[in-house]
Amino acid sequence: MPINNVEGKSSVDKESDGYRMHLMLCAGTGCVSSGSYKIKDALERELAKHNLTDEVTVVMTGCNGFCAQGPVMVVKPDEIFYQRLKEKDIPHLVEEHMLKGRPVKELMYTPPAEESVVPKMSDIGFFKKQRLLALRNRGLIDPEVIEEYIARGGYKALAKALAEMKPEEVVREMIASGLRGRGGGGFPTGIKWKTCRETPGEPKYVVCNADEGDPGAYMDRSIIEGDPHSVLEGMIIAAYAIGSSNGYIYIRHEYPLALKRLERAIADAREYGLLGKNIFDRGFDFDVTIHCGAGAFVCGESTALMASMEGRVGEPRAKYIHTVEHGLWDRPTSLNNVETYANVPLIILRGAKWFTSIGTGDVADNPWGGSKGTKVFSLVGKVQNTGLVEVAMGITLREIIFDIGGGIPNGKKFKAVQTGGPSGGVIPENLLDLPVDFDQLTRVGSMMGSGGMIVMDEDDCMVDIARYFIEFLVGESCGKCLPCREGLMQINKMLNDICSGQAQEGVLELLEQTCNMVASCSLCALGGSAPNPVLSTLRYFRDEYEAHVRDKKCPAGLCKDLITYYIDPEKCTGCMLCARNCPQNAIEGEKKKIHKINTDLCIKCGICRDVCNKDAVMVK
Ligand SMILES: Cc1cc2nc3c(=O)[nH]c(=O)nc-3n(C[C@H](O)[C@H](O)[C@H](O)COP(=O)(O)O)c2cc1C
Ligand code: SF4
Ligand code: SF4
Repeated sequence: MPINNVEGKSSVDKESDGYRMHLMLCAGTGCVSSGSYKIKDALERELAKHNLTDEVTVVMTGCNGFCAQGPVMVVKPDEIFYQRLKEKDIPHLVEEHMLKGRPVKELMYTPPAEESVVPKMSDIGFFKKQRLLALRNRGLIDPEVIEEYIARGGYKALAKALAEMKPEEVVREMIASGLRGRGGGGFPTGIKWKTCRETPGEPKYVVCNADEGDPGAYMDRSIIEGDPHSVLEGMIIAAYAIGSSNGYIYIRHEYPLALKRLERAIADAREYGLLGKNIFDRGFDFDVTIHCGAGAFVCGESTALMASMEGRVGEPRAKYIHTVEHGLWDRPTSLNNVETYANVPLIILRGAKWFTSIGTGDVADNPWGGSKGTKVFSLVGKVQNTGLVEVAMGITLREIIFDIGGGIPNGKKFKAVQTGGPSGGVIPENLLDLPVDFDQLTRVGSMMGSGGMIVMDEDDCMVDIARYFIEFLVGESCGKCLPCREGLMQINKMLNDICSGQAQEGVLELLEQTCNMVASCSLCALGGSAPNPVLSTLRYFRDEYEAHVRDKKCPAGLCKDLITYYIDPEKCTGCMLCARNCPQNAIEGEKKKIHKINTDLCIKCGICRDVCNKDAVMVK
């Protein structure tokens, strides 16, 4: 393709395709699993029935972000947001809105604790405070159509880099932007590229890390599913900057939709001459191969990932040998995360100066001096609006959890938020006004990680939370080095003892010592950061640990061995619901008489508490 001919048409640009209405239906994994392709078929059937096929079109987009409300659809140009669509809603919806021009209120979103619907997407709290850079094409394009990416400015940055910039200038622009890697470590991307460029050795490799093994995190998957070309374009620019002709994307096989869209994007980019030989007639060759991983958390670690790609066991190696110098097949290799690459075209197109105007700190003289740009988080747990959010660095935790996330459901009280995935930390309520960036999160004992954010309420036990993450990491440790392999098992055992009331006095000191040993002696960052959930909960919620050890009590009422269920006689109406549902027949009492739990038979499954609509079942 000639360099000045990067053109295409977009689904939302109505003049370009003649439709008066575009139905942007989410085809991210969440909405697909709740039936968005069935909705698509139903929409198309109904549109045909009313002879609207030439006027209204359905576009399957990438993840919209508001996953809790799926399947979701945005009508363009009206901007009306529909949610939780069901096949049976579609005939009415098409007739009313698409035919008669009367949007259907019953299918719109009503924020919890409010009574009236919010028709427009841009007025919904979940979307208002977001700033979309990596997700700039979210819900606006069909990710399987390269022309739609191009129509929204895609591949213009590549054209600019090749036509107007020398590779060294691209590297300089990246350093000046202060972009820090979004995969967890936060290393300045430009510095990595510079070292790789300057390291002698051929060939050089560009690798994209799309492993994403953190439980509950799906930022990278969504970016690939929703906008695969943004990642490819970032990789091609990186290749030009460091002098590479070979790129690899390492992606786990559990991501079939992302894989399919990547394959399609690579094939289309090749057809357009954006990958392959002599790109834009500039004498620059680059192509990309996909490598499927088997799905081990440790294989996201850069050296383990490269070992896995070489066909060896996915075990990390010591970090003093840098992968930019000795990487894949011992060649200079520049490895970046999916979200990192998705930011690159914007920086090249709009300039480092623009990018540094977003975020915190000052990177003018020091690329480590701040956190620039945005970060994508997967917001999950005890929060009203779970989903994928992208926010400018420096936004507070409170704004993310309460303004975007809509606060805590069921009138419960916020207790803590866990950031940074399994090796991140837990942050308490008094730090809710903390500005979120790489350095602030580290300062309080947590970390950015790849962007997992789990909100917890008063019913969550902090010891149990730490135990959950350690249990995950025990299973994921590759076992190569002793401190991580054995240390994590010991930490896990101590946490199990604490939760079951078996722990002796002095256990907390031993727990802390073991955590510090594992953190400082482990070979890779899995072991190095694994103790974070324990150390941070010990730091902020030590009293909860002490209650478990000293008083054999779980203040949150969660650790089964330390609690007893009982029925409050003041609240019980004798409705029999609990007795009918108890699998152990442990509840005694007649109709309209106060019930009682036989603690010898009770297995503490909590079913009685779940079914009692008088809140009469209590825990002590
Ligand atoms: C146990 C472990 C798992 C990791 N998993 C990922 C991952 O899934 N994706 C990722 O991009 N980085 C992951 N990382 C970080 C990578 O080692 C590496 O720092 C990162 O991919 C570099 O890209 P960036 O500079 O663009 O962030 C992981 C690190 C560790 C220690
Ligand atoms: S720290 Fe853990 S995951 Fe890393 S090399 Fe050692 S045993 Fe393997
Ligand atoms: S469900 Fe609640 S109100 Fe009904 S009998 Fe059981 S404890 Fe009493």
